Amino acid sequence: MESYEREALEAITTRPVHNYRTLTLERITPVLGAEISGVDLSENLSAEQLEEIRTAFRDHHVLVFRDQTISIEDHKRFASAFGELRPVNPAPPEGDPYILEIRTTSAAANVAGNGWHADGTADAEPSLGSMLYITEIPEPGCGGDTLFANMHLAYDMLSPTMRALLDQLTAVHDGAKALAGYTPPADYVIPKTEQPLVARHPETDRKLLYVNKAYTSRVPQLAARESEALLDMLFDTIACTPVLHCRVRWTPGTLVFWDNRCVQHHATYDYYPFARYGQRVAINGGAVKG
Ligand code: SIN
Repeated sequence: MESYEREALEAITTRPVHNYRTLTLERITPVLGAEISGVDLSENLSAEQLEEIRTAFRDHHVLVFRDQTISIEDHKRFASAFGELRPVNPAPPEGDPYILEIRTTSAAANVAGNGWHADGTADAEPSLGSMLYITEIPEPGCGGDTLFANMHLAYDMLSPTMRALLDQLTAVHDGAKALAGYTPPADYVIPKTEQPLVARHPETDRKLLYVNKAYTSRVPQLAARESEALLDMLFDTIACTPVLHCRVRWTPGTLVFWDNRCVQHHATYDYYPFARYGQRVAINGGAVKG
């Protein structure tokens, strides 16, 4: 391990873990994710509970709430405590405009989110976070986990020279890249936005790597071949560095809340011929801060 990689890991793994009064928190790894217990999401949460969940979200970025029995209204109420709800785009043909159904059956050729990405990064104002509530899982031991990766650490573990180069660049995020193989409704306007390649988290101001394989198509300051080589190197770093990752194994009634600003996720399609079903609500974020 290079000295700057060790320094980045030391900085993140030696952070003190907050003491909570209204919930119990157990980390998934020292760098990403936490299981939260002692919170019933079907109830109106107190201001203190919500404040502690905000603190846990800021520190761990992926929060897992198990054994929840919630309605669509409970799901939306919990999400709206963190910001304005984000309508599903393209809008679902029927049902609630804020509920994205994540449904896989044995007939699926592929599944939504089966590749590293953050939600909505081609939008001028990408999503703050997503809450996925899974109610049907493949048989126990038959897969369907979701992987998450910490983009603060992905940036911090790069060499100082690489970080200095990336700090000066932007990247184009193109919704057309993510659509590959799917034809959207005729009136869908495909989003495309230039974002800082290194962003800052709006709440902590910490830097993070802001490119993802599903949406990021080009670094406009570089020649096409240079851009492709640089982006491929960064995508490989995200996918092939396990210390950046945590893994959530779903059980029915689990809700996971992740931060789209500093975390990427990858839904693993390894459970054919089993089915998986869940509902996702997303929260609006602001413009990406460079
Ligand atoms: C997604 O939001 O990309 C889907 C995640 C999942 O199904 O685990």
